[in-house]
Amino acid sequence: MAPVIETDRLLLRQFVVEDSLPLARILSDPETMRFYPAPLDDSGVLDWITRNQTRYQKDGHGLWAMVSKTTGELVGDSGLIRQEVDGNVEIEIGYHLRRDLWAKGLASEAARACRDYGFAQLKANRLISLIRPENLPSRRVAERIGMVLWKQVMWRGLPHDVFDVVRSAA
Ligand SMILES: CC(C)(COP(=O)(O)OP(=O)(O)OC[C@H]1O[C@@H](n2cnc3c(N)ncnc32)[C@H](O)[C@@H]1OP(=O)(O)O)[C@@H](O)C(=O)NCCC(=O)NCCS
Repeated sequence: MAPVIETDRLLLRQFVVEDSLPLARILSDPETMRFYPAPLDDSGVLDWITRNQTRYQKDGHGLWAMVSKTTGELVGDSGLIRQEVDGNVEIEIGYHLRRDLWAKGLASEAARACRDYGFAQLKANRLISLIRPENLPSRRVAERIGMVLWKQVMWRGLPHDVFDVVRSAA
C-alpha cells in the first residue's frame, strides 16, 4: 500500500486488518498503555483498526500504521484525528510506539511529519495533542514539534493537558 507520509526512517500508511498482530504488541502492552484506561485485548485492537479505516473514509485521515523503513515492521501508529474538545472540533496528532524502540526520536519524527501534513494538506489552523499531565515522554514529543501548553481540560473523565501549535508558528 502506498505510504501517505515518508520520513527518513518511517513510512506512515493506512491500517489493514492484517496489522492486528504487530499492533497488539503495542496496544496490548500494559506499560505502553499505562496512561489509558486499560491495554487493548484482541477485539479492542481490531476495533482500533476499523475505527481508523472509518476515519480514512469519512475524514480522509486518521491514525496511520507506522512502519520502519529498515525492517519493514509495523512499529507503532501516528496520524491526525478529529477530536471534540470543549465543544469544538480540533485535529489531534497522535502517536504510539513499540516499547523496545522508545527514546530514539521516532515518535518525534512521525509527529513532525504529521504536523507538516496537517498544515499543508489539511489546511488546519491549529493542531493539538491531548496528553495526560504525567505522560512526560508524550509531552516531550509535543514540545519537540513546537507545541506549547494551551489549556487543561477534563476529557473522557480524566484531566488532560491540551498542547497546540498554530499554523504561523510551525
Ligand atoms: C510517547 C511515545 C510515543 C514517545 O516515543 P519516543 O519515540 O520514545 O519519543 P522520542 O524518542 O521522540 O522522544 C521524545 C522525548 O521523550 C523522552 N522519552 C522517551 N522515552 C522516555 C521514557 N520512558 N521516560 C522519560 N522520557 C522518555 C525522550 O528522551 C525525549 O525527550 P528529550 O527531547 O528530552 O530527549 C512513547 O513513549 C509511547 O509510545 N508511549 C506510550 C503511548 C502514549 O502515551 N502515547 C501518547 C498518548 S498522548
